[in-house]
Amino acid sequence: MQLSIIQHPHPTLRVCSKPIRRVDKQLRDFASQMLDLMYEAEGVGLAANQVNLPLRIFVANPSGERGSGEELVLINPELQRPKGNETAQEGCLSLPGIYGNVKRPKQVRLTGFDLKGNPIERTVDGFLARVLQHENDHLNGVMFFDRMTEEAKRELDDQLLEMETVYESKQKSGGIPTPAELEQQLQTWYDQYA
Ligand code: NI
Repeated sequence: MQLSIIQHPHPTLRVCSKPIRRVDKQLRDFASQMLDLMYEAEGVGLAANQVNLPLRIFVANPSGERGSGEELVLINPELQRPKGNETAQEGCLSLPGIYGNVKRPKQVRLTGFDLKGNPIERTVDGFLARVLQHENDHLNGVMFFDRMTEEAKRELDDQLLEMETVYESKQKSGGIPTPAELEQQLQTWYDQYA
C-alpha cells in the first residue's frame, strides 16, 4: 500500500493514536515510506497520523538529510521530565506554507522502541527536542497551532480557513472518503496492530 501525506483538516490528524502491539514486514515498509515522504517534502519529522495511520509511530531527522546518522524511527514513544522553555517557529507537512511560533519545553526525556524492538532512552534538547514534541503531539491528535497563543494563531486563521474550504469542496466532489469509510479504514489498522 502506498502512503501519502494528509493535510489539515483531515480528521485522522485529530485522532489519538493507539499503541502498536506488533511490528511486521508491512509496518517496517510503512516506516520506510514515511521516511521517503518526509525527505521528499523536505521535512524533519512525520507522524503516522499524517499518513492516515492511527498508530503510535513517527519518524524524524533534525538534519533533514538522509544518511546524516540522525534518523529516528520511534514506536510507542513517551516524553517525560520536561525542562525549561523556548519559543521558536514551527511548520508542519500537513500545513504546507503555514508557520507559527510555539513555546515548548527545552529538554525532554524520550523513551520508546525502534523497529527491532530495542528500547530507546535518551535525554534530548534543542531542535531535536522540539521535533520530537511536535511529532509526539501528532500522535495525540494535537496540531502545532493548538499550542500557539490566541493572538499569534489569529494570524494563521485565514490560511487555515482556506485549507478547510478546499477540504470541504473535495468532500463534496467525492474526492475524500466519507466519515463512515474513514472509520472503517482506521479500524482495519487497529485490528492489525493495536
Ligand atoms: Ni507536523
